[in-house]
Amino acid sequence: MYADSASSSARAQQEEKEEGVTRPTLRTERLVLEPLTVVHTEQLVELDADPEVLRFIFGRGLTRAEVVDTWMPKRTRADADARGIGYWVGHDAGGTFLGWWSLAVVDDDPDSAELGYRLRRDAWGHGYATEGARALLAHAFETVGLRRVCAETMAVNAGSRAVLEKLGLSHVGTRVEQWDDPLPDAALGEVDYEIDAAAYRAPRQS
Ligand SMILES: CC(C)(COP(=O)(O)OP(=O)(O)OC[C@H]1O[C@@H](n2cnc3c(N)ncnc32)[C@H](O)[C@@H]1OP(=O)(O)O)[C@@H](O)C(=O)NCCC(=O)NCCS
Repeated sequence: MYADSASSSARAQQEEKEEGVTRPTLRTERLVLEPLTVVHTEQLVELDADPEVLRFIFGRGLTRAEVVDTWMPKRTRADADARGIGYWVGHDAGGTFLGWWSLAVVDDDPDSAELGYRLRRDAWGHGYATEGARALLAHAFETVGLRRVCAETMAVNAGSRAVLEKLGLSHVGTRVEQWDDPLPDAALGEVDYEIDAAAYRAPRQS
């Protein structure tokens, strides 16, 4: 959202807030992925308010307080940034906010990160999730030097699974967890995917 109309003082304020963020901005053919910081809070509040976006994650939209108090701190972890990983927000060439992509900290494994993505509903179906995630995988393996990238989603989240499979991650397991307040189809479980550096570098079959 860096339209010409943005005031220079707002811009300066943003740059000031981004000081200390060490992750690079990543670019693809159609996307600019910039490090997610608190300046993106309003866009993320709006994204997380859509129950359809969170259908396979929370089964409902999140409140502003949940986003600001619980989720923004997880998305702006300084320890992740120090390692070159974390969350990025994506915009198209016209500056329209599309959603976020992440390489999240795996607490017990500093050589791994967990891939994630969440796009506005009107951005679905254009190949953006795959395009942005491909840039994060390249960053993870070629720049940060991670050994492994993993991901998890509900078994019934066909869109997310299709993205992971297009990227070359392998389905390595299915878990059925006990939830106090399960989402529909939770009984079909959560699926785990991963790719390691060797598989990332290996020539693809298709
Ligand atoms: C899942 C999500 C990221 C997919 O984003 P997207 O930009 O539409 O995905 P892409 O366009 O890159 O699609 C990649 C492939 O998945 C397929 N796909 C996308 N959504 C699908 C769906 N709901 N069902 C089946 N296939 C789907 C696409 O057809 C495409 O395959 P193709 O190239 O062979 O046609 C998006 O729907 C989203 O943000 N959902 C809400 C948040 C979410 O569930 N995140 C994952 C939680 S773990």
